[in-house]
Amino acid sequence: MRIGVAGVGRIGTMHAANLAALPSVDEVLLFDPVPGRAEQAARTLGPGSTAVATLDELLAAGDGVLVATPTDTHPELLRRCLAAKVPVLCEKPVAGDLAALAGLVAEVEASGVPVLVGFQRRFDPAVVELHRRIRAGDLGTVYQVRAIGNDATPPDLGYLPASGGIFRDLLIHDLDAVPWLVGEPVVEVYASGSVLVDEAFAAADDVDNAVAVLRFAGGAVAVLVGGRHDPLGYDHRLEVLGSRDSLAVGLDSRTPLTSLEPGGPVATADAYSGFAERFRRAYQGEMATFADVVAGRAENPSPVRDSLVSLRLADACERSRRSGAPVRLEGVPV
Ligand SMILES: NC(=O)c1ccc[n+]([C@@H]2O[C@H](COP(=O)([O-])OP(=O)(O)OC[C@H]3O[C@@H](n4cnc5c(N)ncnc54)[C@H](O)[C@@H]3O)[C@@H](O)[C@H]2O)c1
Repeated sequence: MRIGVAGVGRIGTMHAANLAALPSVDEVLLFDPVPGRAEQAARTLGPGSTAVATLDELLAAGDGVLVATPTDTHPELLRRCLAAKVPVLCEKPVAGDLAALAGLVAEVEASGVPVLVGFQRRFDPAVVELHRRIRAGDLGTVYQVRAIGNDATPPDLGYLPASGGIFRDLLIHDLDAVPWLVGEPVVEVYASGSVLVDEAFAAADDVDNAVAVLRFAGGAVAVLVGGRHDPLGYDHRLEVLGSRDSLAVGLDSRTPLTSLEPGGPVATADAYSGFAERFRRAYQGEMATFADVVAGRAENPSPVRDSLVSLRLADACERSRRSGAPVRLEGVPV
């Protein structure tokens, strides 16, 4: 199987390396409009990786194409893949606003072409196991979900005005994962936030620490908290409490958290520093699943329609933060 990678920047290069390591992938094709960038990536990746000069070559030769380009290019590249009938894994977000996303969902579904969205938690072995256990009833009735999403350091401050705000940019991953795990519609959100890290967030009309409270149709509650600076490292966790069990993911010897209890875990210099390390197994799983979907061996665990849910929730959180009032969401499906 040959997989094309469009965009070999920060995340495209990592995905290409994970694709190249898969036994089912014979060749990884690389395209990037910046002269020399795809050739450089092919040299770094070694045998089995080839730079191509145009997107058309990538679409003609690839059995599947990964879109890892800047966000504003995703809709156009996705449409090119659909027209070529090539299965796609598109980095998140697929589109910047609900109207554009809804239009793309309709086009994707009419095309019949498999499109996976790169919400990496859905491919993380621990999150997948948590999802399996919830569905199997091992947790009993889900009472609470707690999601923590703290980055170690803020993004480039110049990126903030185009980021869409903390809910669309950072908490979006848990706004995707938590409803997917619970498996019920969210009926109400309340959100709040503050600027504590850098006044540049205020200048961009954004916040750098935020909380969102979700209530699900069956009564389960979730609290999602996330921020742009954690002095101990990159701390992204999920915890689910049910009537029969209480489970966590992202809690291990590298979690940047220090307990004050005797014998409790202590953050070390080896704590996770960024997404590539923390979600290494998720990104590997993401590429393996993509290859399996391309080969017709697996279902798509991250369909583009589900991005409508997380984007609606992110928009509702933003409205709630600004108004200070809860937002009711009757009719937002899972
Ligand atoms: N899921 C995640 O954990 C995660 C993490 C980081 C970034 N992302 C997403 O991945 C995407 C890329 O982010 P990045 O940080 O790697 O960006 P980047 O700027 O480092 O890389 C983007 C690359 O795409 C190339 N490019 C631009 N236009 C192109 C086109 N039309 N065709 C092919 N290549 C093109 C650029 O030259 C660049 O090399 C963004 O949408 C971002 O939101 C997702």
